Amino acid sequence: MSDKINVLLPEEQIAARIRELGKEISEDYAGESVYLVCVLRGAVFFTCELAKRITVPVMLDFMITSSYGSGTVSSGDVRIKKDVELPVEGENVIIVEDIIDSGNTLATLSKVFAERKAKSIRLCTLLDKPDRREVDVDVDYIGFTIPDEFVVGYGLDYDQKYRNLPYIGVVEQ
Ligand code: IMP
Ligand code: MG
Repeated sequence: MSDKINVLLPEEQIAARIRELGKEISEDYAGESVYLVCVLRGAVFFTCELAKRITVPVMLDFMITSSYGSGTVSSGDVRIKKDVELPVEGENVIIVEDIIDSGNTLATLSKVFAERKAKSIRLCTLLDKPDRREVDVDVDYIGFTIPDEFVVGYGLDYDQKYRNLPYIGVVEQ
């Protein structure tokens, strides 16, 4: 059976916001380069679109973390299932996430990159759900702040479904 999905953020609005974020990042890192760390799989669409809007040199690498299983509530135990391959030392790392919920994933990853002696570490997320925060994380770039609802599309899934929707929507329960 297919679920009914209500559009929260249409495609055009997401594209416009990503352009703004790309401009902001390009200005902030003028004269430098950035190392985008895409947290798979949810952030893949966002990272690719964002990378295209950044005008300073960009390196791109990928990570897979897990904490969720197939449920919708964070277990708090974040594990790295696939690590980046390019060297991190001395780089301006920007960790790119699809959504910050409890904050556990980004808090863990910030620590990991600090230990690897990145020159700087900033966090960038397409969506922020501040109501659900369990750990404090300093997020430098936020696409949209959204209410506490489970969203899908533009990379975000519900049990691996709906990642390919070109917009962000809420599954009707
Ligand atoms: P955190 O560690 O709790 O901040 O979790 C972040 C991760 O949880 C994201 O990368 C998503 O994979 C997943 N997540 C949190 N909220 C949602 C949602 O509303 N829809 C889909 N995935 C979500
Ligand atoms: Mg995810």
